Amino acid sequence: MSQADNLAPPPVETTPSFNMLRTLGLVATISGLLVVLSFRVTEPMIEQNKREAIERALFRLVPDAVSRRDFIASDNRIQPAGEGIDGEKLYAGYGQDGKLKGIALEAAAPGYQDVIRILYAYDPYCQCIRGFEVLKMAETPGIGDKIIKDPAFLMNFEALQARPNADGSGLEQAIVPVKHGTKTQPWQIDAISGATISSNAIARMLNDKSQLMSPLIQRNLALLENGA
Ligand SMILES: Cc1cc2nc3c(=O)[nH]c(=O)nc-3n(C[C@H](O)[C@H](O)[C@H](O)COP(=O)(O)O)c2cc1C
Repeated sequence: MSQADNLAPPPVETTPSFNMLRTLGLVATISGLLVVLSFRVTEPMIEQNKREAIERALFRLVPDAVSRRDFIASDNRIQPAGEGIDGEKLYAGYGQDGKLKGIALEAAAPGYQDVIRILYAYDPYCQCIRGFEVLKMAETPGIGDKIIKDPAFLMNFEALQARPNADGSGLEQAIVPVKHGTKTQPWQIDAISGATISSNAIARMLNDKSQLMSPLIQRNLALLENGA
């Protein structure tokens, strides 16, 4: 026996590759199934929570409303919401007398930290925005979150003009933010000083959505009024 044979390391026991791959495959399949299962179980609950949050916000934004009906805007028309109809959702609120009291719409734009999502109330009779509720935001507490706390900022939305222009192609006047203390027009939003980015986000999302939706709502007002 040579010197080299004496120094050879003892044979190492290795896991056969096939067994290892089979175990890994099994773990991956079970993990995947668990992820899909938990998504399937929680998805309807999340959707239900979202619907309830929107409904609560609608009744706060349109206080005279006692019932609601959902509509969908797509391809430049509005129709009652139904299975398989995709598009922009409109939540119409009706009073005890069955009359249309206001319409809530969703809007979103990037804020300081992340996208801000809101539900806002459109009054088709004054052709103005009458308030909003934040559905989701991550703005800085004490700075950006003033958009829901600052009474002077909230005053902007008592009757913010969102009137369609004569040919219905957009707004007569764009909704614009202005430096704090310089608002002179009903379509201007008096921004919060020190939180210009969050204030501008609210103005931008309301303007973008209203440019399209305010004229569309006015054109389809009879349908919305008869929805109760
Ligand atoms: C830590 C930190 C957090 C901030 N958070 C916000 C915010 O949530 N929203 C916002 O508009 N501005 C926020 N700002 C301020 C902006 O950077 C910017 O200074 C401000 O929006 C400009 O407002 P002004 O033009 O009135 O000075 C934050 C600044 C710092 C340093």
